[in-house]
Amino acid sequence: MAHIILDNVSLNYPIFHSDSKSLRSRLLTIGTGGVLKPSEKGVIYVEALRGISLKIQEGDRVGLIGPNGAGKSTLLKLLSGVYEPTIGTINRQGNVSTLFDLSLGMDQEATAMENMRVIAALRNVPTDKEQEFIQEVAEFTELEGFLELPIRTYSPGMLARLGFGIATSINPEVLLIDEVLGAGDQYFMDKAIKRIEGLMDSSKIVVLASHSNDMIKRFCNKAVYVKRGQIVTYDEVEKVLAQYTR
Ligand SMILES: Nc1ncnc2c1ncn2[C@@H]1O[C@H](COP(=O)(O)OP(=O)(O)OP(=O)(O)O)[C@@H](O)[C@H]1O
Ligand SMILES: [Mg+2]
Repeated sequence: MAHIILDNVSLNYPIFHSDSKSLRSRLLTIGTGGVLKPSEKGVIYVEALRGISLKIQEGDRVGLIGPNGAGKSTLLKLLSGVYEPTIGTINRQGNVSTLFDLSLGMDQEATAMENMRVIAALRNVPTDKEQEFIQEVAEFTELEGFLELPIRTYSPGMLARLGFGIATSINPEVLLIDEVLGAGDQYFMDKAIKRIEGLMDSSKIVVLASHSNDMIKRFCNKAVYVKRGQIVTYDEVEKVLAQYTR
């Protein structure tokens, strides 16, 4: 059974090269984002998440909501395993696909075709399914001849198409989405949303961070309201949205 369980998780980002004296004098006045804290050695760090305990189980489609800097993207990175918690434990079951950091792990000098082969191998796509996987991504991206060029030559939107195509052509058990669709054009966005809807049915767990209440209502059955690195509420979508917008 796919699940992700966080037990009392905190995450700090240490900030080097900051003018800690001037920052320190302003610590109490900063209202957005995580909590800025000086450590004993004078290094400043941002406490992006604190004391997060959360149980996500099969069938859960969880929306992450909260103001800028609340910790939503950081939480997604913890759920995916890109970051390890500073404190606390994460227990994760199920293969994860992320719709953020779309070019994470891709070689900028390699072509899309070459990258797809490497990713297919890394994600354990069976050899006899590799061609099918590449075909599916190629059709979705509509990049045609550009698939044979190094991906460093791509525009952000082209890269988004490729990353999104790859992430959604491997059937994940756990699907994690940050608001990444911004780079695509309207045609791609419509296509991407249809595809997410399709994936929702096959994925066992979905977590979506979004500032769009419509997206959250459309795709999620639960929501987490995150504020300054802590969970305010974790409940049914309607209840959480009501509290957030109040
Ligand atoms: N790489 C980083 N280094 C240092 N601090 C970071 C880093 N990434 C995020 N932070 C800090 O962590 C806190 C949480 O940021 P995060 O990106 O998780 O917020 P968010 O809820 O996704 O915000 P938004 O709605 O703007 O996307 C913020 O205070 C931010 O300044
Ligand atoms: Mg974010």
